[in-house]
Amino acid sequence: RALCLYPRYAMETSDNISEEAVRRRTFAIISHPDAGKTSLTEKFLLYAGAVQEAGSVRARAGQRSATSDWMEMERQRGISISSTVLQFPYRDLVFNLLDTPGHRDFSEDTYRVLAAVDAVIMVLDTAKGIEAQTLKLFHVCRSRNLPVLTFFNKFDRPGRDPLELLDEVEQQIGLRPTPATWPVGQPGDFRGTIDRRTGLFTKYTRTARGAAAAPEEIVDAERAAAEEGDAWKVALESCSLLDAIGADVDIPSFLAGKSTPVFVGSALTNFGVRALLDAVTELAPAPLPRLDLAEKERPLESSFSGFVFKIQANMDPNHRDRLAFARVCSGHFERGMDVDCTRSGRSVGTKYVTTAFGNDRETIEEAFPGDIIGLVNAGDLRIGDTIYAGKKVEFPGVPRFAPEVFASARPLDRSKIKQFRKGIEQLDQEGVVQVLRDLDFGDTEPVLAAVGVLQFEVFAYRLSSEFGAPTEIISSPYQAMRITDKASADRLRAIGGIRILYRSDNEMVALFENKYRLQRLEKDEPELTLKLVFDGQPDS
Ligand code: G4P
Repeated sequence: RALCLYPRYAMETSDNISEEAVRRRTFAIISHPDAGKTSLTEKFLLYAGAVQEAGSVRARAGQRSATSDWMEMERQRGISISSTVLQFPYRDLVFNLLDTPGHRDFSEDTYRVLAAVDAVIMVLDTAKGIEAQTLKLFHVCRSRNLPVLTFFNKFDRPGRDPLELLDEVEQQIGLRPTPATWPVGQPGDFRGTIDRRTGLFTKYTRTARGAAAAPEEIVDAERAAAEEGDAWKVALESCSLLDAIGADVDIPSFLAGKSTPVFVGSALTNFGVRALLDAVTELAPAPLPRLDLAEKERPLESSFSGFVFKIQANMDPNHRDRLAFARVCSGHFERGMDVDCTRSGRSVGTKYVTTAFGNDRETIEEAFPGDIIGLVNAGDLRIGDTIYAGKKVEFPGVPRFAPEVFASARPLDRSKIKQFRKGIEQLDQEGVVQVLRDLDFGDTEPVLAAVGVLQFEVFAYRLSSEFGAPTEIISSPYQAMRITDKASADRLRAIGGIRILYRSDNEMVALFENKYRLQRLEKDEPELTLKLVFDGQPDS
C-alpha cells in the first residue's frame, strides 16, 4: 500500500490523561478549492513520516471513489463530500487533522467540523487571495474565535504582493495578520523566507514536485544580503514596516482568535511545510476542558465524555452502516467500555470504533481528549449528542447554521411514500438537510433548508439510492429563515410572503420570500421574535 497511516498501536500512549491531552493538536485545514489543501495535507503526512512518498493520498482518493456508489457522486462531481480524519504523530505530539470538504458549494457538515477542532490552518492561493465563495467559512472561524494560522501558498509562481494579501485578511475576515515568516523575492521569483523572530533566512530550493522533503539551507543575514541583492533589501524594508506597526506574532491574541500568524511557502515544492507543522506544534493549543450546558468545565482527567459532531451513513454499499463521529472531551476512551447518551439515556455500543479515511477504516482501541472516534452503528446518536461514562454531563449542542437555500421535496413514486418518510426522517436526524414541516399539511411535502444546494443533491441521491424513494426537489422562493415564537407567528402570518413551519427540534421558524422585507420588519417591529440561527455572520 502506498499510503501507510501510522498504526495506532505503534504510538506510545501513557495512562496519564492530562499528559496525553497535552500531546494532542486537533485542527482542520480550510481553503478555497484549488488553493492547495490536499497538497498541504499530503506534505504534512510526508514530513511527519506517515507516508513514504507524497502523491499517495491523492492516488488513494481515486481508488476510494471507484469502490463505492456513495463515492460515485463525489467522483462524478469531482468533489469530496465525506470528511476524513487523519491521525499521525509529529515530533512527540499526536496530530488529529480533520478534513473539511473543499468545494464552493458548502454543506453544514463543513461548518460542523469546525465545532470539533481547536485550531485551523487557512490556506490562501497567493495569486488569488480571499475568494468570495469561501469567505463565509473563514467568518465562521472568526465568529467562533478559533485560533487560525494562515498559509500563503503557491509562492513558487507569480502572484500578488504579500503586503496586499495581509491587508485583505485584515479587511475581509477581521483577523489581524502577524507574519511569522516573510518572503524574500516576489511570488514567482521566490528566494526563501526570513524568520521574523530570529532574522535567519531559509533558502528556497526548487524540488521536482516535492515527492521528498525539501532541502532547507539556513543562511545568515550577511550572506543572504550578498546573494539575494535587491530582493533581500525589499524584504528587510517590509520587515521593518511590519516591526513598526507591531505586526508580531502574539500568542494571547492568536489563541483568542483575534490575530493570525502568517507563513509563506509552496506546498507543491514543500517549502515552508516544516515551519507550518512546527507552528502547529508550538502555537496551536492542546485540548482544553470543555464547558457543559451550565458553563462548568468538565476537567480533562474526569471520566470519558465526548460529543457527536458528524454522522455519516451508508458510505459503502458493502456495509450499509452508520458512523457517528465524536470528539473526545475528557477521560480515557477504551473500546468496549460502557458509555451512555445524555439525551436518550440509552447506552451506546462501543465495541466497533474506527477511524475513517474515506472507506478505509482502522479499529480504535483507545482515545484521549482531542481525538476523534467513529462509533459504528451506535444506536440513535444524533448530531450534538453528548456521550459519557461515569459522571453524567451534557455539552451544548453543535450549532445549526442559517440556511440560505430552500426547496421542497416530493416523492416521484407515490407508492414509495413509506420509504420516502423513513428516508426523510433519517436524513433529517443525520443533519443532511434541515427538514421543515407545516403541521397543517402533514409531512408529504416538507420544505428543505440548507446552506448550499449540494446538500439537496446529496439528499435526493440518498433517498433514491438507499431508501428506494426517487424524489423531486423543487426550489422554493424563500431567501431567509428566522426562529420565532407563537405570539410573533400570529403577526407574521398576517403578512404576505412569510411562511411559518416547524423544525424537528420543535423550533418554530419563519421563512421569508424577500430578505429586504425581513430587514424592514426587523427595523419597524423590533418586538417581534426573529432570531438568527447562525452564530456569526448574518445571512445576507
Ligand atoms: P485543494 O485541495 O485546495 O483543492 O488543492 P490541491 O492541493 O488539490 O491543489 C490544487 C492545484 O494546485 C493542484 O494542481 C496542485 O498541484 C496545485 N498546487 C498546490 N500547491 C501548490 C504550490 O505551492 N505551487 C504550485 N505551483 N501549485 C500548487 P492540479 O494541476 O490541479 O493537479 P496536479 O496535476 O498538480 O496534481
